[in-house]
This record gives sequence, structure tokens and C-alpha cells, in this order.
Amino acid sequence: MEKIILTGDRPTGKLHLGHFAGSLQKRVELQNNFEQYIMIADLQAITDNDVGVVKKNILELMKDYISVGLDPHKTTFLLQSEIPELTEITFYYMNLVTVSRLERNPTVKNEIQQKNFDNSIPAGFLCYPVSQAADITAFQADYVPVGNDQLPLIEQTNEIVRKFNAKYNTHTLKEVEPILSKTERLVGIDGKAKASKSLGNAIMLSDSEQEIKDKVFAMYTDPNHIHVSDPGRVEGNVVFEYLSAFYDKHDHLQELKENYQKGGLGDIYLKKLLNQVLQELLAPIRERRSKLENSEMYSILYEGTQKARSKAQQTLKQIKKSMDLNFFSI
Ligand code: TRP
Repeated sequence: MEKIILTGDRPTGKLHLGHFAGSLQKRVELQNNFEQYIMIADLQAITDNDVGVVKKNILELMKDYISVGLDPHKTTFLLQSEIPELTEITFYYMNLVTVSRLERNPTVKNEIQQKNFDNSIPAGFLCYPVSQAADITAFQADYVPVGNDQLPLIEQTNEIVRKFNAKYNTHTLKEVEPILSKTERLVGIDGKAKASKSLGNAIMLSDSEQEIKDKVFAMYTDPNHIHVSDPGRVEGNVVFEYLSAFYDKHDHLQELKENYQKGGLGDIYLKKLLNQVLQELLAPIRERRSKLENSEMYSILYEGTQKARSKAQQTLKQIKKSMDLNFFSI
């Protein structure tokens, strides 16, 4: 039997090149060799966003998925909020983890800092790793492809799995393995922070030709590289970071790096090259995206959710059986 993979995204915005390099490309590859589930984690998103905002992004996210080449015949798409079994499982798992353990989870800790919650952290937000453990185990995933920043969530899941099996003396739940993505998170065009839609420093998959060009020409390079003849720095230079991620002529790139460091290669030349590379990458995706209908995205998500739900129902049954939680059925 094919091994099962589960990944997910919060629908808080459309996807950008950072997602493409970090996870989408990988998922397109993985769908050929695994039973892949992709979850739109709208319940996780509403732990700190308005429902209205989250709802608006669901079909946009579906369009991003389909336009990069994820195939609904190979990948099952599902919507978290339409699978209430996930919420029920989350509730049972909450007793297997302490508040202080959740507060120490590095992923959560980081996000709490970024989001300036101070002392008003929603309990639901603090508990989202528990809900993520429910997602992963409900579909009996073998692997979860993640970036480095999400690794503590996998650890937390496996702790819950072990606790559950030990406490109820069962083998119902199985541990999951991460598949680490090689690429570090892509830097934003300002060179200051990682690319993100909310910071406005990301190239979106749905950006127009002109928007892509404007963003490439606004990229941070080396502020001390004033004349073409000046030696320039490659490290921390956003244009080179993007070329490294998206330009497949590695020998040519190496040559360009050397010439830039020596002096004699201008930013404009490099930005023109990067613009060309990104336009070629994104034009077919944008083209496909523009032909996708909301009704079609809705159907794909609906069908996938029904299929995924029956799997979660089976797991929930086993979970309750292991817990001996069955008062009315005895
Ligand atoms: N935490 C993920 C994010 O930040 C989304 C997510 C929810 C997820 N449940 C998941 C990822 C299960 C992998 C597996 O976007």
C-alpha cells in the first residue's frame, strides 16, 4: 500500500514564490509516489484571524494549488472545518499535553512573539499544535513534509502519539516522520525578512507580468556596489538568492557570482536575467490560474473533503474504542 502524506496551509492569503520553492514543487513531485492529502487549515487560521478573511482565501488557495500542477486525481484536498471529527480528536488529545509544554513549543513561541499577543494569547492558538496532531493522526499519515520551522510540531505530535498509546495500552496511533525540505525559507525582496504576503515583500504566484518586473527591479542587492566596476557582495544579495532558487543553469550562475564579486557585472544585467527567469516560471501558472473557475475549485475541495472525512471517522472510532469511551453503545 502507498504511504500516506499529509500537508497543509492556513488560508490567510494567496501563495507566493517562497511557498513554491519551499513546499509546492515538492508536493507536485510527491503526489506521484504517495497517497497525498493537502489540508486547508481554516480552523487553525481562525485561532487568530477573522472567519470572513479566512473564508475568502479558501478558493484562491485551491487555485494556487491547481495552477502549479497539483492534480486532484492524485492529491486529495480537504477543508479542516468540514471534518468535525478533527475537532473531537483534538479535544481528547488536549488531556495528553500540558500547558507549559505548549508554551515551550518553539514554533508556537516564535509565532506568539511575531504576532505581538503579549498576555492575550487565545487558548485556541496555544493549542493549535494539538489540533495539528489530530490532523496528522486522523489521516494516519506516515510522513509530513515540513520546513525546519515546523519540526517542533512533528515532535509534539509524536509525543501525543506515544502518550496516547501508553495511556490506553494500545497501538492505535502511529508515529509520523518529517520530510524536510532542502530550501531555507525564501527571503523577501527587501532582504530584511522572509518573504510574506503581509509584509508586502513577496512575489505572489498570481502577480501580473508588470508586478513581477517591478518587484525584481526593487530588490535589495549590495548597497556598496555603486558602479558596475565595483566588486559586489553575493551573500545577502536578494537577486542572487532568487537566482540560486530558480535559475537552473548552475554553471552560468557560478560564473555570474564570480564576476560580480570581482567587479564588472551590473545589477541591471542580473535583474533582467532574474526577471526573465521568473516570468518564464510564472507565466504558465498565471495563465492556468486565470482559467480556473470558483465552482470547479469548490467541487474538488468538496469531493476531497468527503473522502478524507470517512478516513477521519474510522480513526475516531478506533480512538474512542481505545479510550473505552462508548457509554451509549454498551
Ligand atoms: N501549521 C501549518 C501552517 O502553519 C498548517 C497545518 C495544519 C498543517 N495542520 C497541518 C501542516 C498538518 C502539516 C500537517 O500553515
